[in-house]
Amino acid sequence: MDNTAVALVGLGSYLPPQRITNETLCARLDTTDEWITSRTGIRSRYWAGPGVSTGDLAVEAGHRALKSAGLEAGAGAVDLVVLATTTPDNPCPATAPDVASRLDLGHVPAYDIAAVCSGFLYALAAASSHIHAGLARRALVIGAETYSTILNPTDRTTNVIFGDGAGAVVLSAVPGEETDGNGLLLDMDLGSDGSGRNLITIPAGGSRQRATTPAPAADEHYFTMQGKQVFTQAVNRMTESSQTVLDRLGWSADQVDWLVGHQANVRILNAVARGLGIPEERAVINLDKVGNTSAASIPLALADAAADGSLTPGARVLLTAFGGGLTWGSVALTWPDIIPA
Ligand code: UT7
Repeated sequence: MDNTAVALVGLGSYLPPQRITNETLCARLDTTDEWITSRTGIRSRYWAGPGVSTGDLAVEAGHRALKSAGLEAGAGAVDLVVLATTTPDNPCPATAPDVASRLDLGHVPAYDIAAVCSGFLYALAAASSHIHAGLARRALVIGAETYSTILNPTDRTTNVIFGDGAGAVVLSAVPGEETDGNGLLLDMDLGSDGSGRNLITIPAGGSRQRATTPAPAADEHYFTMQGKQVFTQAVNRMTESSQTVLDRLGWSADQVDWLVGHQANVRILNAVARGLGIPEERAVINLDKVGNTSAASIPLALADAAADGSLTPGARVLLTAFGGGLTWGSVALTWPDIIPA
């Protein structure tokens, strides 16, 4: 029986400096602040400028997470880097080895996870599995995105929703006897349904529709989303997955101090809270400031909720996400006594 537990011991986040308000988008797209705010809850988002890559944002967030965990960047700081992203620096190779190298972490295993908006929770599961298997003692887990690089500039729906950013945590092995201590990851649920693969997709550039000959139409390289169908799936999957974790842990809805859902749409987050019987006031919302940042969304929401004093040590936190694939997942933890950077 594995006697190791896994705890979250550091948290860092980074947003690129260019803030894009709803007004900025209204100037070039057929949309209004009223539509964006009432349909999504989003008021602004951040976009990385030309030449700024996902890896650049990931390095900043990773550096901050290490600092928050009291670790100096350098060989031996962590034994693993897992990077969740939909927008890697290149189709090949993965971005994580470069991020590990730029953080001077030595020759640690490093790989990307492609689970779109659920990516950060998949990455938490992967990294904690390494720790449970004895393959790592400490892991840097990053969610980083530059959706601004894959948005179709003429698609008003996706343009108003998505933002860029990065968030990272450090996970560490701790003795298994501390079964209810601060920061412990207590349970996880992950799932997928590939029959919904076309609801969120970049049609071209992979092996099915190659970027070379015959060249696809330019707009097939852009991100597409069937918003209405995704909305329903997101509410149902996040609610069911969260409930699975609550049932397994024996937590009732009123024992959840904070629901930290993927910041897709305030109406989705409120519907998930209602479906679980958790008051909407206990759903963390920061999409008004940062938009939907996909794999970076949950660590950015955690960073905001920790910074404003909502997340306090020992709080029972339920994370839940849904994204392209289709993929979904939920993770329960107790909040650690850390200072986010
Ligand atoms: O992160 C991964 C998971 N992603 C999600 O969970 C996103 C889920 N989906 C959503 O959040 C919502 O479906 C959207 C925010 C994407 C769209 O909201 P909606 O209430 O489902 O709107 P809709 O797609 O039904 O569109 C309603 C109307 C349409 O016009 P008509 O056909 O009624 O005349 C759209 O063309 O709103 C129009 N519309 C816009 N109008 C102004 C779509 N985008 C815009 C826009 N500004 N930006």
